[in-house]
Amino acid sequence: MEAVEPKHPRFGERGYRADPRGVGYIGLMAKRKLKDRRALVTGASSGIGRELAIELARKGADLVLVARRAERLAEVAAAISKLNRRAVIVAGDITDAAVRSQALAAAQQEFGGLDILINNAGVAAHGRFAEADPARLRPIMELNFFVPVELIREAIPVLRTGRDPLIANVGSILGERGVPHKSEYSASKFALHGFSEAVRPELKRLGIDVLLVAPGPTESEHFEVLLEEKGELPWAEPARMPACEVARQIVSAIQSGRHFLVTGRKSRLWLLLNRVAPRLVDRILNRYG
Ligand SMILES: NC(=O)c1ccc[n+]([C@@H]2O[C@H](COP(=O)([O-])OP(=O)(O)OC[C@H]3O[C@@H](n4cnc5c(N)ncnc54)[C@H](OP(=O)(O)O)[C@@H]3O)[C@@H](O)[C@H]2O)c1
Repeated sequence: MEAVEPKHPRFGERGYRADPRGVGYIGLMAKRKLKDRRALVTGASSGIGRELAIELARKGADLVLVARRAERLAEVAAAISKLNRRAVIVAGDITDAAVRSQALAAAQQEFGGLDILINNAGVAAHGRFAEADPARLRPIMELNFFVPVELIREAIPVLRTGRDPLIANVGSILGERGVPHKSEYSASKFALHGFSEAVRPELKRLGIDVLLVAPGPTESEHFEVLLEEKGELPWAEPARMPACEVARQIVSAIQSGRHFLVTGRKSRLWLLLNRVAPRLVDRILNRYG
């Protein structure tokens, strides 16, 4: 029998909801239960990914955990099995296409499929663009942009057979407003945000929802494992939200069917200011070039 395409409500019709970010209709996202759902989390060995994997398990999900450090993944898997959920480890570099395939194969072999894909692994660098080597840009774009996009490409046929399938892309508030000294990182997150918005309506037609997460400053190993750090950032570091709180908010966004999440009140205010008074934000940031 031929598959029936879902009909999207149009303006004026019941069920229509304008995108609060003002980029047009993007469709409704389903509310989700997480009990017995199968999730794959990249960058699950530390920070947001680690906490997210554990929080998803707490809500009843089984997990495929991907990162390079096997011993750290084993520790996360042990925490998950204490919650009486299953966890499979795929230790490897996710920029390697074979590792991505292995992670998807693990979900199918161990759990019989995949319902939730969380693209979380990421890396940053600090320093002025003019003083940076070209070698700084490529690995940032590779991990933060090409990896999630290619993993999504490969995961689509698997997710289509899943239950209420969802992709969550972990971007950044710097994917909404670029800042000096983080040019390559801002660019990589803008690319991920643009891609997420663009494919959301396409994937909606296939029954797959897309949640875009823009965390503000978060306490994690992120700032210890920078690809490069040239000079001090010329502003006082803002307070960082604990990674477990970011994870809790992401899980709550998944459950309640939100399509865009900014973590932290100050981050939301910053993006609001950028939208209503972009020239003022330009002037503020010009002081820090
Ligand atoms: N912390 C913040 O302030 C902040 C703010 C906004 C957005 N974010 C975003 O949030 C996401 C998570 O970052 P985090 O703050 O939790 O930082 P984190 O603690 O450094 O976590 C990064 C994770 O990515 C994994 N990873 C890095 N390179 C990898 C590779 N080549 N292959 C496989 N896994 C790799 C790391 O594990 P291994 O080293 O074991 O491979 C680690 O599990 C990132 O996308 C980041 O850009 C963070």
